Amino acid sequence: MSTSPAPAAPASAPAATPTGWKKGLEDVIATDTKISFIDGEKGVLEYVGIAIDDLARNSTFEETTFLLWNGRLPNAAELEAFSADLRSRYELPAGLIESIKRVPKTAQPMHALRTLVSELAMYDADPNKNDVASARSKALNVLAQAPTIVAYFDRHRRGLPFVAPDKSANFATNFLYMLNGAKPTPTMAKAFDVCMILHADHGLNNSTFSARVIISTMSDVYSALTGAIGSLRGPLHGGANEDVMKMLNEIPTVDAAEGFIQNKLATKAKIAGFGHRVYKAYDPRASYLKTLAKQLSEDTGNQDLYAKSTAIEQVMLREKAAKGIYPNVDFYSATTYHSIGLKLDLFTPMFALSRIAGWSGHIIEQLADNRLYRPDAQYNGPHGVKYAPISAR
Ligand code: ACO
Repeated sequence: MSTSPAPAAPASAPAATPTGWKKGLEDVIATDTKISFIDGEKGVLEYVGIAIDDLARNSTFEETTFLLWNGRLPNAAELEAFSADLRSRYELPAGLIESIKRVPKTAQPMHALRTLVSELAMYDADPNKNDVASARSKALNVLAQAPTIVAYFDRHRRGLPFVAPDKSANFATNFLYMLNGAKPTPTMAKAFDVCMILHADHGLNNSTFSARVIISTMSDVYSALTGAIGSLRGPLHGGANEDVMKMLNEIPTVDAAEGFIQNKLATKAKIAGFGHRVYKAYDPRASYLKTLAKQLSEDTGNQDLYAKSTAIEQVMLREKAAKGIYPNVDFYSATTYHSIGLKLDLFTPMFALSRIAGWSGHIIEQLADNRLYRPDAQYNGPHGVKYAPISAR
């Protein structure tokens, strides 16, 4: 066995690799889609061609999900059948309810949701079936049961009995009912429904891309949705709505907002709820949520929170709008969810409950015309290095 020192890497140049690429797959088109369209310069978001504002004003989450999965709005009979099918699936398998009881009460809800959505695969008699009809059915199961998982987990950690789903209620009303043990007011249920519409899809964002990458191996719907939940919880993605709330809690008064933000910017810190890879204008979801947050905060005595938010926005627009940094979907979600009465660590799970609709639409679209995702990396390391025996290192 040689004991000579490890040879240095030879200086030979690596094979030519493409240049001009940007990290983070920025500007890379990885697939085509008919589900949602974003114009980041003009601040436009459409689901299947319909402006997000139009859907928020006129649609329901069930109808929007049908739109995302079918490429068109349903007629009355189709909507009724789709909604009835969703409601019939709200209940969890008995074994999964037992699993929820075993989750540590200190667990973070996003970790609980990710783990339990993954576990749903084990209650499916044929979890790997990937024909489009089977994928739709599995996605509908997860869409119907994820709210039950979140509500049950939250009641478990609070030491409260579970409240069985109300199959006569729509997605939004049923979730708030299971969580709180009381029917929400129509205003709260409607506000929550609108939040679900606004968060349902957003082009090839990180979590949606993750879902498409996973299903492209012909893995299974549960794995794809589980991976997407894992992606969403990051603070650079859906986790930002919780950071916004933490920031609002840290700022003692409306007047303190200016100094707080200026101090952060002076240290080059990023302000949660601002900036976006695609939007260089006002995120249209943020405009709608701003109106909703104002109304709900007035209704629930949370005007202070809304006032702090607008104070932060004013500083950020003054300092950063020229760089294309505006409020994103997460910024006014925080005040909205707080006013609906949701605890801080349920904000990102709310995003996930809604985005399951979009992720599933993309999984179905991917399966209908699949090609494995397998990008390339620019290798910047050495070549031709000789293996050094451990005694020589
Ligand atoms: N506050 C202050 N400055 C910012 C912010 C911000 N929130 N966002 C970006 N910038 C600045 C960066 O400091 C950087 O400045 P520089 O050119 O002087 O170095 C420049 O804008 C570009 O920023 P990047 O991080 O390179 O932009 P990228 O496209 O990678 O990031 C991201 C987008 C991750 C969303 C970023 O804006 C961010 O971290 N925002 C805060 C977290 C957040 O709100 N995430 C939710 C996004 S929406 C969603 O996923 C649902």
